[in-house]
Amino acid sequence: MERKLTVGSLIQGKYSIEVGDLIIEPEKNPIKTFIEIKQNNQSFKLTPAPNELLLDSALKQNIPLDYKCRKGTCGRCAVEILEGHNLLHPPNEIELKKCRDANFRLACQAKIK
Ligand code: FES
Repeated sequence: MERKLTVGSLIQGKYSIEVGDLIIEPEKNPIKTFIEIKQNNQSFKLTPAPNELLLDSALKQNIPLDYKCRKGTCGRCAVEILEGHNLLHPPNEIELKKCRDANFRLACQAKIK
């Protein structure tokens, strides 16, 4: 009997997928459903909200991120991304100039996918 797999069935970790020589096993490669960030020696997990700025999403979830200008100039909103890099759009020009380390993002500029 042939079974159709859905994204939901993969999240539950019941099945693996073979694509050519590549085998994706959900238990070993769990799909990240959160973004973990660190600022001022505190780490936080947030649920990504599509097309929101990381800062706005964090504040809505009562995560007390430090920030000031919201323009990408002061750098106070810089956070280290511990988990969930793949849930963010690539850095914009402002972030590329301000953040030299790829693990750091400006929460006021980083947009969630
Ligand atoms: S709040 Fe100033 S750079 Fe983000």
